[in-house]
Amino acid sequence: MKKIRMLGLLLLSLASAPAFAQAPMAGPAATHRPPTGEDREAYITRLMRQMTLDEKIGQLRLVSVDAGPDAHKDVLIRDIEAGKVGGIFNTVTRPDIRLLQDAAVRSRLKIPLFFAYDVLHGHRTIFPIGLGLASTWNLDAVALSGRISAIEASGDGLNMTFSPMVDISRDPRWGRNSEGFGEDTYLVSRIGATLVHAYQGADPAAPGNILAAVKHFALYGAIEGGRDYNTVDMSPQRMFQDYLPPYKAAIDAGAAGVMISLNAINGVPATANKWLLQDVLRKQWGFKGVTISDHGAIMEMIKHGVAADGADASRLAITAGADLSMSDTMYGQNLKPLLQAGRIKQADIDRAVRDVLRVKYDLGLFQNAYRHVGVAADDPPDTNAESRLHRQAAREVARESLVLLKNDNQTLPLKKQGTIAVVGALAKSQRDMMGNWSAAGVPGQVVSLYQGLADAVGDKATLLYARGANVVDDPEIVKYLNLYEKDIEDDPRTRQQMIDEAVETAKKADVVVAVVGETQGMAHEASSRSDITLLGGQEDLLKALKATGKPLVVVLMNGRPLALGWEKDNADAMLEAWFAGTEGGHAVADVLFGDVNPSGKLPMTFPRSVGQIPMYYNHLNTGRPFDPQHPDKYTSRYFDAPNGPLFPFGYGLSYTTFDVSDVKLSAASVRMGGTVRASVTVRNSGQRDGATVVQLYLQDPVASISRPVKELKGFQKVVLKAGEQKEVSFTIKQDDLSFYNNDLKRVVEPGRFNVYIGLDSENVKAADFELRAAKGEGKAKGG
Ligand code: NOJ
Repeated sequence: MKKIRMLGLLLLSLASAPAFAQAPMAGPAATHRPPTGEDREAYITRLMRQMTLDEKIGQLRLVSVDAGPDAHKDVLIRDIEAGKVGGIFNTVTRPDIRLLQDAAVRSRLKIPLFFAYDVLHGHRTIFPIGLGLASTWNLDAVALSGRISAIEASGDGLNMTFSPMVDISRDPRWGRNSEGFGEDTYLVSRIGATLVHAYQGADPAAPGNILAAVKHFALYGAIEGGRDYNTVDMSPQRMFQDYLPPYKAAIDAGAAGVMISLNAINGVPATANKWLLQDVLRKQWGFKGVTISDHGAIMEMIKHGVAADGADASRLAITAGADLSMSDTMYGQNLKPLLQAGRIKQADIDRAVRDVLRVKYDLGLFQNAYRHVGVAADDPPDTNAESRLHRQAAREVARESLVLLKNDNQTLPLKKQGTIAVVGALAKSQRDMMGNWSAAGVPGQVVSLYQGLADAVGDKATLLYARGANVVDDPEIVKYLNLYEKDIEDDPRTRQQMIDEAVETAKKADVVVAVVGETQGMAHEASSRSDITLLGGQEDLLKALKATGKPLVVVLMNGRPLALGWEKDNADAMLEAWFAGTEGGHAVADVLFGDVNPSGKLPMTFPRSVGQIPMYYNHLNTGRPFDPQHPDKYTSRYFDAPNGPLFPFGYGLSYTTFDVSDVKLSAASVRMGGTVRASVTVRNSGQRDGATVVQLYLQDPVASISRPVKELKGFQKVVLKAGEQKEVSFTIKQDDLSFYNNDLKRVVEPGRFNVYIGLDSENVKAADFELRAAKGEGKAKGG
């Protein structure tokens, strides 16, 4: 942790903006005035007076190069010269970006383009996927990954990332869990805000900074059945309480962009949703930036069944407040005729154009169209040069993302001696270690798990390898996953042949490290699963390895919670590695051999089976809660499965042990508006130095609407030497006790509150205090 803080400070000197600045983006930076010297609104007003309708509509077009016939480079260059493109995404090298910006500079009004990209967990250096970053529970680590992403992306000439992705999800079936930060509102909000600060700094135009476009607004993670692009139907209370706060946190942190989600919300697609894009986003939250429709979303409103044709869809989107149309010819084709027919107003177009131009002004592009991309003479001779990577930071962050799920009889850490059998197709995969949405990462530069282990043991131990099983071997699934990008490369041998070889290999070893899970493409967009167990014979492989009697260490590579009942009961040790990025193999080896003590905690509940979904820790109690001490038939339960999760939210072990004292409160009773300090003493009661995450949960047990059994409201990662103890305190403020009532008003209701502190969401120490009504106000409720 200390190293992460030091690396963060070092980056302060590399970039001109504060790395972890807490102040929101500084708005129109005076230093980026265009040559005319005008301030932002005056400049844009004058510019818009000179623009033709076609040029205005052109500004609303966001194009991915070579994605579709209208986007072939030569066609695109002609369009840019004609002032018919506003921004580009998926162009990621300085020469390519400069070529397109040159075309914009040749256009009549020379309005520069901005360049965006999906920089989600690293740009050239790849950090752990979102779920891995969230597993660190370390905002300094998250910020470090964001700073380096911004430095590398702006170094390639980019101006904006479509990140952070803060969609809350309680459904492991959804493939896009991998991109986000899990199920919890508080944790995801803190991470989202941290990343916005890290990307944008105080001035998004400064070298080393990029703009953040938070996504997917809104509620994309709540799609029914976890099936991608499906619909969302949700009560307003749940929206405002649980699902909307992370977007708001990113916007409060200064996010300049918002990407609109593809799903419908209570019947109205987000892209056509005036309530969402105007009432909530602009009026309630005061968002002043640019909104971006997702890929093809405008046209999709026809299939959603709310638009009769493309013109209708364009009308709905522009009047709802979707500024930029992504990879979509809809605005280009339809806005002009819609205006001429009086179906939309000039003001609808002008408002959107102004939002786009503001972003360009704030990026300093009117002062210097080549601000981030610089001059050709300064281009790196080799875009993928090793020297452009930040390996040390990637390794530090990846180490903290690993979650120890089980460790019987101190199977881990392993000794660097004897013979170790490494089994599993994922063990040697560089591509999978990067995870999906791995921006400009290069698989050849990634340390695979096997390589990491080999580097760690050198000549001290012997490593054996067997593939053991394909990750997926159903030909239909393989075909699906390989549709657009080769994801699966299957070994043609039979399951049994591969298992036999693995068993023979295991028999020669002292310990088996089995690397199983998913390929990166299985936890991606359009990669929803109805079965979340291990596929492709991987479970049979584990059973055969177990039968050898050798200690079995299961290392998981996956982008969603998996149902791992057999593994939990039978493996000697289990380590959740997610997809850990460029330095993943080294980081996993650091933990497996005990050079680093694991400290990650799960940001998402692991269910026992797909049938338990949705399963999340902050559920309501119901009128008939299941009590495992007194199991009863007529309670809320399944009769064929236990109620609880396989691994709870916030869970993760260490090679040492920690004790948590009873909770001390600074007061047993407090008046409305006051604060209470809750403290525990955490002691490292084991033999090794280590770190853990102390988690604060609150509950309002009697309120005007039913409130969750507990909700995360604070966390602190603490580092303790063996035998050391530390007091950890949280200040509970009024806002932590508030919720949206039935009238959608944010209220704090007096009465008793429960305080829980522990090292995961289930194992907690409890205390309670009374919140009294403010002087002269209504009487306290019961409880
Ligand atoms: C579609 C995805 O939903 C979105 O997350 C991404 O940013 C865009 N494509 C651009 O690649």
